[in-house]
Amino acid sequence: MKLTIAFVLAAATAISAQISEAYTDQHGITYQAITHESSGTIFGIALPENPTDEFIGQITTRLETGWAGVSFGGGMINNLLWVGWPNSAKEVVGTFRLADSYTVPPPFTAPGPEMTPIYTDTAVNDTHWTHTFICKNCHKWLLADGYEQSFDLAGDFAVMGYAGHTEAIPDDPEDPTSDVQQHNFFGQFGMILSDARSAEYETWRAAALAGPAEPEPTSTVTSVTATATSSLTSITSTITSIPSITSTVTSIPSVTSTITSIPSVTPTPTTIPSQIPETVPRWGQCGGIGYKGPKNCASGSRCTTLNSYYHQCL
Ligand code: HEM
Repeated sequence: MKLTIAFVLAAATAISAQISEAYTDQHGITYQAITHESSGTIFGIALPENPTDEFIGQITTRLETGWAGVSFGGGMINNLLWVGWPNSAKEVVGTFRLADSYTVPPPFTAPGPEMTPIYTDTAVNDTHWTHTFICKNCHKWLLADGYEQSFDLAGDFAVMGYAGHTEAIPDDPEDPTSDVQQHNFFGQFGMILSDARSAEYETWRAAALAGPAEPEPTSTVTSVTATATSSLTSITSTITSIPSITSTVTSIPSVTSTITSIPSVTPTPTTIPSQIPETVPRWGQCGGIGYKGPKNCASGSRCTTLNSYYHQCL
């Protein structure tokens, strides 16, 4: 298939034939694309499984490239061209053009083709600028005399072209309709439309139109303070049943206790009532050597020493 296409292209254009190959961009979209090595320019398109009127296109080139463009019909003259470049705001600006001669192509103003840029947030980085777009009705365009040019989007193959300048920037990069200097690189190639079709097209398209994904959090939340904005007014709860609780003691652990210290006990002195001395009745002994009994004689008598061994209450 590819050999046949290359032969057809070479025969039709009488130039060395280039044919497209698969190329996947940073967003995961796989295109059929052509690469112009010396300028670092890549142009590709991706199609739905059953193409009707649109495709996703992308042209990417080095940041130094002053302008770059594509021809949706292969040649420069009477074909729908797109020409673009980065501006000072790091956006890619550009317009459809149509040339009726090999001179600066003016803007294409007829209705029909629509280009919706996607992934504009990644359009210009430190090394490259890229224009990614959904192109609707870019396969047919009206010439000034009302004649319609087209290629078969649902076919297997189409001839397309690219051009650009590796250095010269447009006259006014802020103006999408600005004039550009003649290209110092250009070419035509065979776009293998049959290999540009993918069942993933709708997924790629939806993701592109959804916009950039939320950035991954880069910091850790250490605390969260929440403020309640509504107050709890009432809670009504009805307990309908209380489950019975049955507990069985299956084992009683043995308790071993070891007294490791005995606290010192300090007795508290208590009051000892004063002793009431025993009274010795009259005639009783109240003293003498070896006597240990009471010595107070009853009232009306007194302890009298009868001898050193016997004292008596008299
Ligand atoms: C700025 C003024 C431009 C001038 C004076 C100009 C002139 C020319 C000339 C003389 C050729 C034939 C070269 C050759 O066969 O050796 C050519 C080819 C080509 N030009 Fe331009 N060009 C201009 C802008 C553009 C732009 C903006 C595009 C946009 C894509 C473009 C796309 C092409 C392509 C694809 C070819 C190769 C196919 C063909 O010969 O028709 N040109 N151009």
